[in-house]
Amino acid sequence: MRRKLAAGNWKMNGGKAELDGLATLCAEHDGAAVDILICPPFTLIGAAAQQAEGHALAIGGQDCHASEAGAHTGDISARMLAEAGATAVILGHSERRADHGETSDDVRAKARAAHAAGLIAVICVGESLEQREAQNTLDIIGGQISSSVPDTATGENTVIAYEPCWAIGTGLTPTSDQIGEVHDFIRTRLEKRFGAGVGRSVRLLYGGSVKPGNAAEIFTVSNVDGALVGGASLKVDDFSPIVSVLEGAANAS
Ligand code: 13P
Repeated sequence: MRRKLAAGNWKMNGGKAELDGLATLCAEHDGAAVDILICPPFTLIGAAAQQAEGHALAIGGQDCHASEAGAHTGDISARMLAEAGATAVILGHSERRADHGETSDDVRAKARAAHAAGLIAVICVGESLEQREAQNTLDIIGGQISSSVPDTATGENTVIAYEPCWAIGTGLTPTSDQIGEVHDFIRTRLEKRFGAGVGRSVRLLYGGSVKPGNAAEIFTVSNVDGALVGGASLKVDDFSPIVSVLEGAANAS
């Protein structure tokens, strides 16, 4: 049984004021039947981890360098994230692939570094609208999965987030059939590469315009083990109901 996961990616948003919402989130979901992860900007990780201490809320980063340390101005290592209180890190988000030219090979190296530092790697994959319209979605996702996921992946240290680029921040979402097709495909790929044990234990999140109003439908799709939420994770009034819907799905399954 995979434990469901509600993850929030604050991206380059939020400040100290937003941390107050974490206390509310903790209070509303302590003892929840699902895992909850919030990935704020680097500068807030330490304070967020302090807020989360003693609660069922994990804190994560949004990127890390592939090296342990060195002359990489402006970068941050997986070990630094862990020392600040993070237990996970988002890697290969399409915004990093687009803004920083990150390739799947880069993402795999970063994921290996995350694993070595004891972090859960939340590895993102997703097709562009052009790729979907050209009916290349599964080819693109297959290529990203084989190159971005390192051999060190296990069910405990790896989560994969399917985030179609065209659904991020747009209010557009794929149909349930489209999400299910990709998630089933990723599951099969993982089972083939890592064997049934590991392949079936890696959690698969859907991300892209998840809101309180569409979460219930998305969480009924096969092989959807939770969500990676952007905009709606910034306000506790939006994120908390999504967590509640996921708890309902966990209790029903
Ligand atoms: P939105 O939920 O704002 O569409 O962002 C999704 C995302 O990119 C999460 O990583």
